[in-house]
Amino acid sequence: MKIKIIAIAIFLINLTASGMDEHKQIEKTGILLVSFGSSYASAQSAFGHIEEQAKETFPGVEVRWAFTSNIVRNILKKRGRAIDSPAEALAKMGADGFTKIAVQSLHVIPGEEFENLQRTVNAFNHIPKNTQKIVLGKPLLYHHNDIGETCAALHSVLPEERKSTDAVVLMGHGTSHQSNIYYPGLQYYLWQQSPSIFLGTVEGYPSLDEVISALKKQNAKTVWLQPFLSVAGDHAKNDMAGDEPDSWKSQLEAAGFTVNPVLKGLAEFDAINAIWIKHLKEVFNKL
Ligand code: CO
Repeated sequence: MKIKIIAIAIFLINLTASGMDEHKQIEKTGILLVSFGSSYASAQSAFGHIEEQAKETFPGVEVRWAFTSNIVRNILKKRGRAIDSPAEALAKMGADGFTKIAVQSLHVIPGEEFENLQRTVNAFNHIPKNTQKIVLGKPLLYHHNDIGETCAALHSVLPEERKSTDAVVLMGHGTSHQSNIYYPGLQYYLWQQSPSIFLGTVEGYPSLDEVISALKKQNAKTVWLQPFLSVAGDHAKNDMAGDEPDSWKSQLEAAGFTVNPVLKGLAEFDAINAIWIKHLKEVFNKL
């Protein structure tokens, strides 16, 4: 009888203990890096570069990736490389037991892509029994300080071979979204330090036409052409440095300039990545 009671007591204790285990969540923090994405193999080295910097800054924290562009993800899927959307990545991280996640936007401006990401993060913060807390780091340009810091970082990564009389033309993406103002905003900062650095955009303002007329006023002869894009993907290779007559290189040459294209994306430079990583740190510390 006594043995029976003890056996039942042990059984109940075990039951309670195992029941408690199932409700106790083990803390697990992760990082999700989110880029527009690129289907170019060369862009992967830039992504690898910033991933390394993130891992060095947060040792032992798992770093995962998501691309916001459906088109890029579909191209990669056909090649057998599946990359998650932000929603897919967050759902998987929830299922894999991550209790806290710091999402870092690797976008350049807080445009449409960033706003969509913000909405996804907000939505996931309201899913019961998923990750407890998800925070989102700001893109490269957000606060006033970011613009000054980006301007300084850009000066440190421009081609060293350029002469003082040479001009630099940076190609940004540009957007119809109101955040396009960051491009002329950054141009103002750049001109405070170097009147020979010009920032144009493919799809917004200032356009290449505006850049060309500014270059002519400067009497520039040689132009270094460099992307102001996170990676040197499709826009950099074709719209910027391509041989088609409508590329920036061809149009600048047609306007009489000697053009030296540099095919390096922003995420290939430590000084620029440091700004994204700083934004990640700011939110990571709030987890
Ligand atoms: Co584009």
